[in-house]
Amino acid sequence: MSISKIGVAGCGLMGAGIAHTCARAGFTTFVTDKNQEILGKGINRIFSFIDKGIEKGKATLEERRTVEKNLTGVDKLEELIDCDLIIEAVPEVFQIKADIFQNLNNILPARCIFASNTSSLKISNLAEISGRKDKFVGIHFFNPVPVMNLTEVIKIEATKPEVFAEVLTFIKAIGKTPIVCQDSTGFVVNRLLTPYLLDAVRAFEARLASVTDIDTAVKLGLGYPMGPLTLIDYVGVETVHHTSEIMENEYHLPQYCPPALLRRMMDKGWLGKKSGKGFYVYSSTGAVGNDDELTALMK
Ligand code: 3HC
Repeated sequence: MSISKIGVAGCGLMGAGIAHTCARAGFTTFVTDKNQEILGKGINRIFSFIDKGIEKGKATLEERRTVEKNLTGVDKLEELIDCDLIIEAVPEVFQIKADIFQNLNNILPARCIFASNTSSLKISNLAEISGRKDKFVGIHFFNPVPVMNLTEVIKIEATKPEVFAEVLTFIKAIGKTPIVCQDSTGFVVNRLLTPYLLDAVRAFEARLASVTDIDTAVKLGLGYPMGPLTLIDYVGVETVHHTSEIMENEYHLPQYCPPALLRRMMDKGWLGKKSGKGFYVYSSTGAVGNDDELTALMK
């Protein structure tokens, strides 16, 4: 395989998880973000995820050492110059992604493959603007990236077959299972997941049951590992809102229309687990349903 050095652009929740996963699998990995502070936070997140995993018997010291050895945080896109594959994981805003790809295209040698971890934007649109659409693919990971085994892989018409084959080999080498998906907003998972998550919010808005009981219903009644409201907090309220908006604009279907409560939560800064508050209030002792404050917010 010719892919051995990976560059990850973006060290938020997804970018950090992707960088961690590549480094853990033995790939020399460089990760970058727009400033040192965000980069440092993302790298700390990787090691605290591993350390918590070690405490819980889910990760090993050897994994920590492998990641330490293979992962480097860099503060300029120029430092990605030797990479064979760049995986972009910056916010789901077309122009932000387009700017990154255009800058990277000016810096990186022609052999380097570009991939976007977008969950909802069209790969063909990003490829077009990247200046190297024959070496462009979508690789969509799932949160928490080091744990979730799926990747949705998107080949556009212009992607060279040998590039796509190399990407599939790489995905298997990092321990993930690829499914090949058409270049369609939301791909498979978000197309199915988003209406379900939004319906859970609507169920709460209709006072069908408490936050905890909606989640318990799904966990025990359907056997899902997490309830939908926990999952929204986990992925991020603003991410779910933004993904729904993009899908609503594309499909014009009511099931993708984000409920008002999500917008109000965003305005309050209740973004879920990362902000300490969302459908639950998080503390060192655990999470409790935020029913009263959410009900007040709906008035
Ligand atoms: N290394 C380090 N930590 C690990 C680990 C590993 N290999 N494996 C598990 N852990 C962590 C878990 O993250 C969890 O951390 P937490 O207590 O901080 O939440 C902890 O160990 C305990 O895990 P459990 O034993 O309780 O649970 P499991 O490991 O069986 O499952 C889970 C955890 C994988 C997060 C599971 O709950 C799950 O599958 N949840 C659903 C996740 C999901 O649906 N993700 C998709 C989101 S959609 C998306 O990403 C699309 C994007 O476009 C937004």
